[in-house]
Amino acid sequence: MTTQLRTAREIQLASRPEGVPTGANFDLVERPVAELEDGQILIRNTWMSVDPYMRGRMDDRESYIPPFEIGAALEGSAIGEVIESRSAAIPVGATVTHFAGWRDLAAIDAATATAVDTTLAAPRHYLGALGTTGLTAYAALTDVAQVRPGDTVFISAAAGAVGSVAGQIAKALGAARVVGSAGGPVKTALLREEFGYDAAIDYRAGDLAGQVAAAAPEGIDVYLDSVGGEHLKVAVEAMRPGGRIALVGAISGYNGNKPAHTPDLFLAATKEITLRGMLVNSYFPLFGEYIGKAAGWLAEGTLRTRETVYEGLDQAPAAFLGVLSGANTGKMLVRLG
Ligand SMILES: NC(=O)c1ccc[n+]([C@@H]2O[C@H](COP(=O)([O-])OP(=O)(O)OC[C@H]3O[C@@H](n4cnc5c(N)ncnc54)[C@H](OP(=O)(O)O)[C@@H]3O)[C@@H](O)[C@H]2O)c1
Repeated sequence: MTTQLRTAREIQLASRPEGVPTGANFDLVERPVAELEDGQILIRNTWMSVDPYMRGRMDDRESYIPPFEIGAALEGSAIGEVIESRSAAIPVGATVTHFAGWRDLAAIDAATATAVDTTLAAPRHYLGALGTTGLTAYAALTDVAQVRPGDTVFISAAAGAVGSVAGQIAKALGAARVVGSAGGPVKTALLREEFGYDAAIDYRAGDLAGQVAAAAPEGIDVYLDSVGGEHLKVAVEAMRPGGRIALVGAISGYNGNKPAHTPDLFLAATKEITLRGMLVNSYFPLFGEYIGKAAGWLAEGTLRTRETVYEGLDQAPAAFLGVLSGANTGKMLVRLG
């Protein structure tokens, strides 16, 4: 029996970072792909996602998802074409999303892949606006911190994958004013001109509290927090009584730096603010409903998206380091094929 049919290239974790990761924490390794077993499919990945949460998986600590292992391939969302199949459920030629990213060829159980409709939207969208970042924005604003007509909504990391979709969803839900914060004048211009924001704050320009007060003089009803630290502290101070905060991420602390600012939770208590965390995995049952809606918005042009694309598997670590430091507008993706 043949045991080595093809050679796959994959990115492995070479070492764990101290603080900010570097290219030296990753290795590009060639590995033979064994013959498929019953129920498996072989996928040629065409796009893969790099996401901020992967930073936490580089550390050796317990969390909601296990750490990456040194000397093993990293993993994450990817999309590709099935080139061999030993599954009745998924034929050769299908386009599937799955979790075996960071490699060009993936041999996986068909049950862990999802076939997608590429007539509905281009494959890359299934890693962004129609993928987990789009669903995160949707779930955060429709369920976790529900936007009501007339609300003032504040969104951080607003020019990124979640934030660029979230501003437009907030408007669609009837928000009267949507304020976004992002790093630098190019991104803040994009927030207003392309992503439907009424006002944009450049947090790198300083005086975050003053800028939020100027952009939302009557206070905030809903805050989608992707950043934590000073953003969360300032938002709690700017919330109206009864406001709702969706705790989606805290990227300002992902490299292990101690927060210089902490939110005043007694102030949150006295304003009767709700702070509610979320993990997008809990909303996976909503995926079908969400994709149905969002594919329609994309097709009619009411949902505008951007991607920052790095080319080739060898650039995946650079893309990942870039998403942590703000090199992306919209979804950060790596094109593999
Ligand atoms: N809870 C969940 O299930 C879930 C699911 C998906 C994502 N998330 C979280 O949602 C957030 C956004 O994720 P994403 O995939 O859409 O990433 P993204 O926003 O596309 O990329 C991350 C952005 O964060 C900004 N950033 C980096 N360091 C920052 C800092 N110290 N202060 C303020 N902004 C900073 C950068 O933009 P600037 O140039 O504007 O700084 C960067 O582009 C992350 O916190 C992520 O962990 C959570």
